[in-house]
Amino acid sequence: MTVFNLGSINADLVYRVPHLPEPGETLASTSFTRFLGGKGSNMSVAAARAAARVVHIGAVGHGGDWMVDRLTEYGVDTREIVTVSGESGHAVIAVDDHGENSILLFHGANTCLDPEEISGALAQATAEDSFLFQNETNAQREAAEAASLRGMRIIYAAAPFDADAVQDVMPLIDMLVLNEVEAAQLEEATGLSPENLPVKDIVVTLGSKGCRWYETDKGEQIDVPAIQVDPVDTTGAGDTFTGYLVAGLDRGFSMRQSLDLATKAAAIMVTRQGTADVIPDLKDIEDARFNRL
Ligand code: RIB
Ligand code: NA
Repeated sequence: MTVFNLGSINADLVYRVPHLPEPGETLASTSFTRFLGGKGSNMSVAAARAAARVVHIGAVGHGGDWMVDRLTEYGVDTREIVTVSGESGHAVIAVDDHGENSILLFHGANTCLDPEEISGALAQATAEDSFLFQNETNAQREAAEAASLRGMRIIYAAAPFDADAVQDVMPLIDMLVLNEVEAAQLEEATGLSPENLPVKDIVVTLGSKGCRWYETDKGEQIDVPAIQVDPVDTTGAGDTFTGYLVAGLDRGFSMRQSLDLATKAAAIMVTRQGTADVIPDLKDIEDARFNRL
């Protein structure tokens, strides 16, 4: 079983700041580090760290080879990543003393994908495989259709939130992963709360309050409690959660087991500065001591 992940690949330029910049303010940062990032890469690396087989489908541009090399080094199959002309995707990320961030994104190569190449990449997939995607590429709908034709399990993380994009792919997906802000935005756009959405499984992450799984066809809601941590940098924690969740399900774990692993991985991630490069592996989870809230 393999997770095929259509997703962004960004250089994350991370600046530590005493507070997030105000309009018109010139603010000096106290440190700068360049990480591999992008919601797509973060999810691919998380799924690989959770011991899933992962094929990443995406694009880099000028100067993006180091990001592909790093994904390969982290155990992700990068053969379906193409190089296009123009800039690679990147993100300028400010992180304050509370671990909160603000992100300025440039999509670059990430939105230069050819839908036919994506369908071609998915031609190797079977109904045993999973298809994961988010909102930092183009061609999501075409890709989800191709995955649906192959009978794959389709998981969509609606981030960054786009009400039209979610509604466009909703009929095709098996699972929707949202944070609570995105869930509220979706409710505003559709008039439907998570339990009433036409998707079988919906997972809403609640930050320091854990997460809630809505099994809509059974009308059930299951809460997974959070783990207590001192946040250093919340960037990439949601992506780590999703990557672990999808990897767990793809490896045949139950939803509860997968949610438990995902919650633990995300909790560790919040205590680490950076994105894809610092995503915990299964050994880190095994070694950690967790305080449930
Ligand atoms: O979710 C965090 C990610 O969002 C960062 O890695 C950044 O690249 C943006 O895509
Ligand atoms: Na982090």
